[in-house]
Amino acid sequence: MHQKIPNGIIEGEVVVLAFEVDPIKESWTDYANSLPRNEIDRAREFHYPQDKLRFTKCRSILRNTLSKWLNDNTKELNIALETNGKPYLKENPEIQFNISHTEGFAGIAFCMEYGVGIDVENTARATDIDQVAKKVFTESEQVIINAETTPDKRKMFFRLWTAKEAFLKNTGLGLTLDPKKVESNLPTENKKYGTFECSQVKNSSGLRFVEISCPEPYIMTLSASEESLGEISVFPL
Ligand SMILES: CC(C)(COP(=O)(O)OP(=O)(O)OC[C@H]1O[C@@H](n2cnc3c(N)ncnc32)[C@H](O)[C@@H]1OP(=O)(O)O)[C@@H](O)C(=O)NCCC(=O)NCCS
Repeated sequence: MHQKIPNGIIEGEVVVLAFEVDPIKESWTDYANSLPRNEIDRAREFHYPQDKLRFTKCRSILRNTLSKWLNDNTKELNIALETNGKPYLKENPEIQFNISHTEGFAGIAFCMEYGVGIDVENTARATDIDQVAKKVFTESEQVIINAETTPDKRKMFFRLWTAKEAFLKNTGLGLTLDPKKVESNLPTENKKYGTFECSQVKNSSGLRFVEISCPEPYIMTLSASEESLGEISVFPL
């Protein structure tokens, strides 16, 4: 898998690594040797083996990628947390990244100089979409979802959910920002990217979102600033 990691990243490019996470084929201990002590301790704290695997596999791929690009030892890369928990690289904050994992699949987005957010969801997961929609979507987002018929309604729910979540993760605010305060506008005809409106985030009008193709039943959405979207390179590992 690690041979498929790209050799580097250039300015104006977003790199996305996308991969399966399968507790039947792999174990979290397969990934432990790239991780420092504190991440191994964190992995041990998860109760379920699949949660241990999701965390360790993502951190291992993240560390192997950064170590290839920076020519540094995987365990010595110093990953710190922003105030609301977004991980960043302490010594090389210019390489921005974000991780997302769900049952069965994960993605990591990288970008030079500009922040990124990524979210992946399993659309087959048991979610009462009508109940959740009322809690997290704006009136106009709910109208868009309700205009669809089954099963497109479910798909639209997750398209808007992952867009919003990618925005919340791009800003680093996560759920400290009420999701209802963010309006996601799907790309209009001839436009590649969707846009956001959020009066609580200064540069929200400069942020874009785009769906990253991945296998069914997953939906993955990337949020990045307009300037950084010259090229999106997706690497299935
Ligand atoms: C952490 C959070 C930002 C995302 O959580 P999530 O969707 O459950 O999980 P994801 O797999 O997409 O993301 C988790 C990763 O995001 C990163 N992360 C943690 N806090 C973050 C933050 N404030 N901003 C950006 N990234 C963050 C971490 O790398 C974490 O993975 P790791 O700890 O294994 O390295 C959480 O605060 C959140 O928003 N939960 C969403 C649940 C929800 O109800 N959303 C409503 C729909 S919009």
